[in-house]
Amino acid sequence: MTRILRYTGKGGVGKTSIAAATALLSARRGYRTIVLSTDIAHSLADAFDLPLGPTPTQIAPNLWGQEPDVYHNIGRYWSTIQKYMAELFSWRGLDAVLAEEMTVLPGMDELGNLLWIADHVESGDYDVIVVDAAPTGETLRLLSLPEASRWWIERIAPIGRRVSKIGRPMLERMIGVPIPRDEVFAAAERLLQRLDKVHRLLADPERASVRIALNLERLSIVEAQRSFTYFHLFGYPSDMVVCNRVLPAGLDGDGSFGTMRQAQQRYMPEVIAQYAPVPVRTVPQFDREMIGPERLIEIGEALFGHEDPTHFFYRGRPYQVKAEDGGHVLEVALPFTTRDEIQLSRDGDELSLQVAGLRRTIVLPRALVDAPTIGAKMEDGVLRIRFEGRADTRSGKSTKPSKRGD
Ligand SMILES: Nc1ncnc2c1ncn2[C@@H]1O[C@H](COP(=O)(O)OP(=O)(O)OP(=O)(O)O)[C@@H](O)[C@H]1O
Ligand SMILES: [Mg+2]
Repeated sequence: MTRILRYTGKGGVGKTSIAAATALLSARRGYRTIVLSTDIAHSLADAFDLPLGPTPTQIAPNLWGQEPDVYHNIGRYWSTIQKYMAELFSWRGLDAVLAEEMTVLPGMDELGNLLWIADHVESGDYDVIVVDAAPTGETLRLLSLPEASRWWIERIAPIGRRVSKIGRPMLERMIGVPIPRDEVFAAAERLLQRLDKVHRLLADPERASVRIALNLERLSIVEAQRSFTYFHLFGYPSDMVVCNRVLPAGLDGDGSFGTMRQAQQRYMPEVIAQYAPVPVRTVPQFDREMIGPERLIEIGEALFGHEDPTHFFYRGRPYQVKAEDGGHVLEVALPFTTRDEIQLSRDGDELSLQVAGLRRTIVLPRALVDAPTIGAKMEDGVLRIRFEGRADTRSGKSTKPSKRGD
């Protein structure tokens, strides 16, 4: 099974260097490894000090690197949708070239990059995929998309197909925009299904881990906490936190670096306690430019020693269902969150969880579909949502049909 390691964190903390270092060590162990940048501001090639292209380029034995590019992605996934959008814009009198430019929507480029993960898993060409992801803020924005896509596929796509059967020309005159043809709906559906696939891969605890990189300074720590919460919310398992650029001992009392080191050392126990039981590891601040494979391997060795970098350093589930007191409890680990920050709503078999600006829709497992929710509380960073026992558990047959009718 292809192992997926994704590194993320605030801008400049060292994601690219650590991802590249991990990939180098993984390839050295004989795993066919690809390191893929999904950040649109690519810098993998700079870190390796080697040229990379939009498709995989071999850079060492067992090691490939890739910096996807937006136009390449559009050709692969978006052309049908893009043609429709260009049609839509030109219908409104927009110049054809400008219309084409406008169809590159924000976020689309990074999404296109993420889709490569699914391609690489399916190709079977690699044992390990290391992802150098965008700074967390950017990544978070895209997390809720797979959920949105499921909604689109189930509710909008069928309407669209029906509408396009009954009098398209009449409707187009009425609303003044071209109605997408069936193939546009089909292409959108395909695209969204691919996204959903990526989401499922990244949430699969048997293959994927997201590793958060941070520096020992307030803003970086706070951003790391926020993303850790969101990764739990979306069910992406995390197996490691990497503190990069930790100033080495021997600097104490030595002017401003000594002061910085002391500040870092004060943060350290706090960080370890916050993420426990997920392990926190450190990489020292090196006093040279850490560019090129040799330097990167030093980073990798500082981080992993002689251990296998693809190992699962922690295995925990972001959420699980437990039987309790004749009912069930859905537990969602939401570290760094208080109960007031969480909004919950329920619509049939869907439970909607909102933390700050982000919403996650959890499709409830079979056992909970017909069970009323009877309360929720936070306990030690875990949200516990209680469901009443199903009236029919003993008789063994369902009294209410489920919404989806499956
Ligand atoms: N432990 C370290 N010691 C010394 N230099 C480092 C260390 N880690 C990273 N660097 C250097 O810091 C700079 C930023 O690192 P890197 O590009 O890996 O960060 P990033 O998180 O990917 O940044 P961005 O958010 O811009 O993509 C690079 O010049 C890199 O070589
Ligand atoms: Mg980077």
